[in-house]
Amino acid sequence: MYYITRQKKREGCVTMKYNFDRPIDRTREISIKWSPQLRRQMFGAGDVIPMGIADMDFETAPAVAQAIQRRAEHRTYGYAYPSPEYLQACVDWQKRRNGWDIRPDWILYTPGVNMALVCGIELYTQPGDRVIVQSPVYYPYYDYIRRTGREVAFNPLVEREGRYEMDFDGLEHLAKDPRTKFMILCSPHNPVGRCWTRQELERVGRICLEHGVMLAVDEIHGDLILNGQFVAYGTLEEELVQRCIICTSPSKTFNLAGLLVSDIIIPNDQIRADFQEKLAPYYLWPGSFGAAAQIAAYEQGEDWLEQLLAYLRGNAQYIGEFIAERMPRVKYRPPEATYLAWLDFRDYGMDREQLWDFMCHKAWVATDDGPKFGPNGEGDGFQRLNFACPRQQLTKALERIAQVLDRL
Ligand SMILES: Cc1ncc(COP(=O)(O)O)c(C=O)c1O
Repeated sequence: MYYITRQKKREGCVTMKYNFDRPIDRTREISIKWSPQLRRQMFGAGDVIPMGIADMDFETAPAVAQAIQRRAEHRTYGYAYPSPEYLQACVDWQKRRNGWDIRPDWILYTPGVNMALVCGIELYTQPGDRVIVQSPVYYPYYDYIRRTGREVAFNPLVEREGRYEMDFDGLEHLAKDPRTKFMILCSPHNPVGRCWTRQELERVGRICLEHGVMLAVDEIHGDLILNGQFVAYGTLEEELVQRCIICTSPSKTFNLAGLLVSDIIIPNDQIRADFQEKLAPYYLWPGSFGAAAQIAAYEQGEDWLEQLLAYLRGNAQYIGEFIAERMPRVKYRPPEATYLAWLDFRDYGMDREQLWDFMCHKAWVATDDGPKFGPNGEGDGFQRLNFACPRQQLTKALERIAQVLDRL
């Protein structure tokens, strides 16, 4: 069965093999994003449209669902492990998608990137040490750092007409501080959607190398490339690659966050041995379903992913058209990567509380609140909107926002 997306229909082109337009009722799933109970608790109403939490309101690739069904039918769910097939699927994916040659024994399993990043911080820093992040950024980074007794070293990104760049002087300054031991680089960057260029990545790597700062590169959004060119950190010069921890996962790409799979790729033998030792007491194994899903996703999911990306590009463009027509004071630049739109409402002059109240209690759209991503003011006036949903749902959410803005 082939489908034509609404927008493409208007443009008169492109058939889709998978139907990303089909609405899915997720309210009966055990879902942080869609549970009516949680939405009532958080927003005071069950019908707020959840456009925050970064999972997708699409079914995963059919090959993945079938692999999970086959596994479920087997009816024994004992311990799984990162089998040769599981590891090879990741090796082949990195080679095909990113041109990065890795070895199966470089891959360590963790049940999510969050855990790997916390382990990295605990391994390479002591309480009181400083960890660099480039704000606005995925806000749990701040939690990893603070809750482990470390200090956040902020290197805010620099915004030029909606495009964000790194401040390399600021980075160098922070890296020079002997208390700075670790950096988390979000690549591509959530929430501003930048795909960092090879040159930018090399500059970060050089600064970290020169000042003895361990670099963790979070590439969880690395497959979701819309209008940019993704450079996998592992394809940089050997000297840089030998001094980093690279976090990857099929979870964002194939909507598998609930299956707790991530692959931490560490080319350096000593760093990998340290990391392995850190993880050893937890006896972590991938779950039976997560393992089956990763193999199917990486071996058979590519054609679905290409169509997903085409649909997401359409959504990203549609947001721009909607904004230009209906709420031109909102500023938006389509992201180069991710399915997250970083919307700038600063022209409306609302303070932090007013903007959040406007979204959740007037427009009834649960975006992610900008200030969480940039607690020193970098996120003030912004909201992050997840557009990995059917166009109809996206339109409904944007309509709600536009109608309330009209009445301001
Ligand atoms: C940049 C980034 N890193 C990590 C995570 C969380 O990863 P996991 O669910 O694998 O722990 C997310 C989830 O949204 C993310 O956007």
